[in-house]
Order: sequence, then structure tokens, then C-alpha cells
Amino acid sequence: MAAEASTAKRKIALIPGDGIGPEVIREASLVLEWYQSERKLPIELWHLDLGAERFLRDGTTFPKEMRIAIQRECRAVLLGALGDPRVPSMEHARDILFGMRFGFDLYANIRPVKALADSVVPLKGRTRADVDFVVFRENTEGAYAGVGGQLKRGTLDEIAINEDINTRKGVERIIRAAFDFAKTSGRKRVHMADKSNALRHAHELWLRVFDEVRREYPDIEAAHVYVDALCLYIIQDPSQFDVIVTNNLFGDIVTDLGAGLQGGLGMAASANVHPADPGRVALFEPVHGSAPTLAGKNQANPFAALLTVGMMLAHLGWPEEEQRIEAAVARAVELGQCTVDVGGSLRTHEAGAAVRRLLAES
Ligand code: NAD
Ligand code: IPM
Ligand code: MN
Repeated sequence: MAAEASTAKRKIALIPGDGIGPEVIREASLVLEWYQSERKLPIELWHLDLGAERFLRDGTTFPKEMRIAIQRECRAVLLGALGDPRVPSMEHARDILFGMRFGFDLYANIRPVKALADSVVPLKGRTRADVDFVVFRENTEGAYAGVGGQLKRGTLDEIAINEDINTRKGVERIIRAAFDFAKTSGRKRVHMADKSNALRHAHELWLRVFDEVRREYPDIEAAHVYVDALCLYIIQDPSQFDVIVTNNLFGDIVTDLGAGLQGGLGMAASANVHPADPGRVALFEPVHGSAPTLAGKNQANPFAALLTVGMMLAHLGWPEEEQRIEAAVARAVELGQCTVDVGGSLRTHEAGAAVRRLLAES
């Protein structure tokens, strides 16, 4: 929790983005406005016009001045989703998303995999009690670092390279963040997932650093697992996992797999933070993308975005509000006051309204 007076005003930048982004961020904004007016939370909202629409209009992706202003003035950014079929290069999306993840050095992408109702767990004989772990995804390097290039493009001799960048500092700080989180949140076990059997240079570093760091946390069980086997074990018995730490690319994949156990991507929230400096601006986003086939139909599940608001409020110093939002979303799913992907029949806006109603009663 941030150590600051609870009355200090926190400025939050909102970037709805593309596809279903604006629809789910609308529900998130309504919750935040409710917190401003009804609960008097000292927050200020700054709506930013960024995304595919803006890029197609005037070529703007993520201006440097805006990044600096966010860094100086904001405590958090809430992003909907980026990705639009009209911009197949994803140029704007990379500039905005990586501009913040890399630009603010938000090295921990924290993605809870938690089922909030038995009905959303697709595994035979399993309940929500079996699905509750947190993935710590390295967020500033790995295959995402952008080191590489193309040679002889368009010829039969073409070469395409994206290097997998693993630095001692980068690997150590994310592993340490996972152990620190396990310790402070009372979790028992940290699994580190790599592919050191095949990637013997890059991932041997993960193995070695994990082995060193684990010694500093004798009360936390530490286990190594190859990422391919991890995917098997998560489906066979998700209850054995507490905290999983892994690299950027594997974390991306494992958390979509995890979302499958939570009721789908409409239920998966995430935070991008710099744990060593909690006062730094942080980025919050649902795990899902812009879901182009759902866009503009008022059908997308807004709960991932609302749970993400919960993570953001906890980061801003109000952890009890995260619990309150989570409980309201869980209750909405139990009551069937939710969208079709999690067993209801409501539209996006109605599902958001149901959670606001339940929040008001809590
Ligand atoms: P996606 O997450 O948009 O969709 C995957 C599946 O989940 C689809 O079946 C979709 O309908 C469903 N889904 C996603 N969000 C949902 C919600 N809120 N409610 C109900 N169902 C939901 O992934 P994709 O289809 O692979 O990618 C679409 C675009 O989004 C691409 O351009 C991709 O690059 C981008 N993307 C962006 C982000 C981000 O901005 N953080 C994340 C992932 C993908
Ligand atoms: C995510 C997304 C992004 C990622 C894409 C849009 C670059 O899939 O946030 O999970 O791979 O990190
Ligand atoms: Mn992803």
C-alpha cells in the first residue's frame, strides 16, 4: 500500500483504446465516478484520446510530451485494449503499450488467476477454491525487447530475428518481486517457469538466479517447472499453484490459459508496476485485447476492467476497495447479473450497472 495521506488527490489517466476497450472503460469510468461522488475518493480522471482512431486521423501514436506528463502528474493509467484491423502493423499499440511498460520501467506484470464463482471453472470436479494463483510476468525484456531485425525481406533467403534478452538485473528483480509478494500476501509457494532445457544460455540464467534468490526466503517453498509442463499441471490441478514467475512471452501465454480457468478473458485483470518504487505511475489493464468481433455490440464482459479498477485502487492506497469490487463482481456472477460469456444474459452496460448497484449496497 502506498504510504501517503488518504486525502492527497491521485490523478488517473484513462485510455479506452480500440475495439471493446471504450465499452469496458466506460463501465470502469462510471465506477470511478461513483467512487468520486458517493465515496468521496480523492481521484481525478484525465481522459486521453489515443488509439487506432486517433492514429488513423492524424498519425499520433504516443507523443513523448504525453508520456512525460503522465509520468509527472499521474499515479495510474487505466487502459482498455489496443488492436484494430485497420492498423495491421499494430504500430500505435506497441508505441502506447510498450511506451508505458518499458518507458516507465514497469517490470512486474501482475496477473491474478482467480475464479470468483464455481460456475466459471470449466474443469470437471473443480471449484473456485482450486483456482487462485498469481502470475508475475517479466514485463520489460525477453522476446519483447525489440532487439532483432529482418534481412533479405521478401526473398527466399529472408531472415527474421527477435532476440530473447535476459539480463541479470531483469531476471533477479522479477523473481525477487514474486518472492516478496508471496511473503507479504501469505502465499506458500513460488514456481519459476522457464525452458532452460532447450534455451540453455538464456534460461540457465533464470535457473541460477532463482536458486540464489530462493535461499533468501526459507519460509517460501520454491519449485522449478518447465513451462510446457506447467501448462499441463495448471489444467490437471490448478490448486497446487500460488505464485508463478516467468518471462515476458511465457507469462503472456500462461495468463490466457489461466483466464480459461477464471471464466475467460472477460474476467482477467492485471497491473503493470515497478515494485521497488510503488510511488511511480503504474499501468492497469484487463488481460484481454480489443476483441474485434464483439466491438460496438454492447456484449463484451466489463468485469475484467472493473476488477482491474480494484487492483488500481489497491495500488493507490485503498486495498479494501479492491476486495469490495471483487465481492460485487463475484456476487453479480452468482446472481447471473452478467454477460453471456459467464452465464448471464446482460449487455455490457447492464452488467456494469449491476456491479455499481451491488457496490452501493456493500
Ligand atoms: P482478445 O483478447 O481480443 O480476444 C480473445 C477471445 O476472448 C475472443 O474470443 C474474444 O471475443 C474473447 N474476449 C476478449 N475479451 C472479452 C470480454 N471482455 N468479454 C467477452 N469476451 C472477450 O484477443 P485476440 O482476438 O487475439 O486479439 C484481438 C486484438 O487485440 C489484436 O489486435 C491483439 O493484438 C490485441 N490485443 C491487445 C491487448 C492489449 O491491449 N493489452 C491484449 C491482447 C490482445
Ligand atoms: C497482453 C497482450 C500484449 C502482450 C500484446 C497486445 C502486445 O497480449 O497484454 O497480454 O503480448 O503483452
Ligand atoms: Mn496477451
